[in-house]
Amino acid sequence: MIDIHAHVLPQIDDGPANWEETMAMMHQADEDGIKEVSITHHILSNVDYGREAEIVAKFEELKKRLELANIDIKLHLGSEIYSQPDMELHHRISTYDDNKKYFLVEFPMQGVPRFVADYFFDVSTIGITPVIAHPERNMGIIRNPEHAYEFVQRGALLQMNAGSIVGRHGEPVRDTAIVLLNSNLIHLVGSDAHNTRRRPMKLRDAMHAVAEGWGEARARALFFDNPKKILEGTPFSPPEPLLVQPLKKGLWGTLKKAFSA
Ligand SMILES: [Fe+2]
Repeated sequence: MIDIHAHVLPQIDDGPANWEETMAMMHQADEDGIKEVSITHHILSNVDYGREAEIVAKFEELKKRLELANIDIKLHLGSEIYSQPDMELHHRISTYDDNKKYFLVEFPMQGVPRFVADYFFDVSTIGITPVIAHPERNMGIIRNPEHAYEFVQRGALLQMNAGSIVGRHGEPVRDTAIVLLNSNLIHLVGSDAHNTRRRPMKLRDAMHAVAEGWGEARARALFFDNPKKILEGTPFSPPEPLLVQPLKKGLWGTLKKAFSA
């Protein structure tokens, strides 16, 4: 499995506070079967790029520490950019592995800002694809999952958090995750790990839930094939999105059983 979204380096944002916590997270990932991790710390405004050198230095240090600890996990570097009209994408950490093709972007939890549609259209014309972080946790999308459909029609990709589908963020978030998965509107899954307990670096349970509910092939695409393409910067055509359908009670019962297994 490849983790496309994780806050791992110490003292950068609300991720781990020291190297001990960082290494505990990496051990957790290793035990879970994660083979590659893309480190994506918050960039809340362009000012945060002032810390890029520190992030790159800690990224290089983590590679050495993994080798010493005999942890065989390949590291990649990107960021999670908070959506703003003046988002800069030319920095080393703006796009995944500086591939100038894909970047991870988050919206405010309360909704989807108005400028976003135009901005995404502008960047897509120069060949850069936005990957929207955890849409299933966004209030605007929880209320109106059709927004997710519109973004995918415009060329964005959507990254679900592993915790959302196993119920870690509550029922409305899990319901929205199911609705989006049913409509082919989720393309990638990430842990969005910040620590080992409340927001752990685990993907396996979520992968089993996806395999159970939507099949092995879908699970392989979301947890391995698609993240690989994103990191390599190669284009891929996501499946045609289906019109968003509200959850049916009977279906929910069946799925619920699968997730609680
Ligand atoms: Fe995050």
